[in-house]
Amino acid sequence: MIRVLHFSDVHVDLPLSSLPWTTWLGKRAIGGLNHAIRRRPHFVHAIDKLAALARFADEQAIDLALCTGDYTILGTAPELALAARAIEPLTRRPLGFATVPGNHDLYLGDSVREQRFEKHFAKWMVSDRPELATDGPFPFVRLVGDDVAVVGVSSARPNPEPWRSSGRVPDAQLEGLGRALADPAIRERFVIVMTHYAPRLWNGRPDSITHGLDNADALLAAIASVPHGCLLHGHVHRRYALRVPEVRPVLLGAGSTTQEGREGLWVLELDGAERSAIPGEFRDGRYVLDASARLSLT
Ligand SMILES: [Fe+2]
Repeated sequence: MIRVLHFSDVHVDLPLSSLPWTTWLGKRAIGGLNHAIRRRPHFVHAIDKLAALARFADEQAIDLALCTGDYTILGTAPELALAARAIEPLTRRPLGFATVPGNHDLYLGDSVREQRFEKHFAKWMVSDRPELATDGPFPFVRLVGDDVAVVGVSSARPNPEPWRSSGRVPDAQLEGLGRALADPAIRERFVIVMTHYAPRLWNGRPDSITHGLDNADALLAAIASVPHGCLLHGHVHRRYALRVPEVRPVLLGAGSTTQEGREGLWVLELDGAERSAIPGEFRDGRYVLDASARLSLT
């Protein structure tokens, strides 16, 4: 059996005064400061919770950990360095670790130009099938054991307008994803597609134009016929599972694993043809699973 931990949107916190002054140039000054001030109280214990999450991963004998992005609030170099240090114990699982960026990690064009995310996280986005990548490292494919595959797709981009935090899977990646999912060596496995943005909200509706995934329908169409699999996402800070009509893989959103009072995660148990997902939460200082809410993924 392979046990997979899915966590997301940990948004590690740094005192604003410790960020470089260039953080506050231009557009980040307008939306960013407001945003950071509003968000920070919800994530004050993020670093301690990541330590608790590493203990949970040990207790639960997690083989593989997956994070669907948003490690930071403002995508600055010090935040990304802090986040990379904080998740380091979670990356040392026996079958490894994989991740994709969130919109906060690529907050503005400078984060992307300076490749700040890649500097710390590129090693967790490597592919066993690099010839299938169509847009930088994406989609990347990790072949896990004999019957599981992880396919990482990036849906995050900088959003210079302070009121917008939407995403899009670039067309080139959708094409690459289609090719990867059609490949029998991948398709015949249980396929875990991971991306930051939620193709649907918990109620089955698309997210708003300013917060959602521009081409959610195209992503759902790309994965719809995968015989056995699921799609992991974050971005919407609420843990939920959703079945979308005509789409075979279940959508699993971890929500935010560190947000006060909303902490969410999933543990997948993949045992041959027996596959299920168990929701987890944070209670009395530790992460716990709710085995009574186990969900079948077959
Ligand atoms: Fe996000």
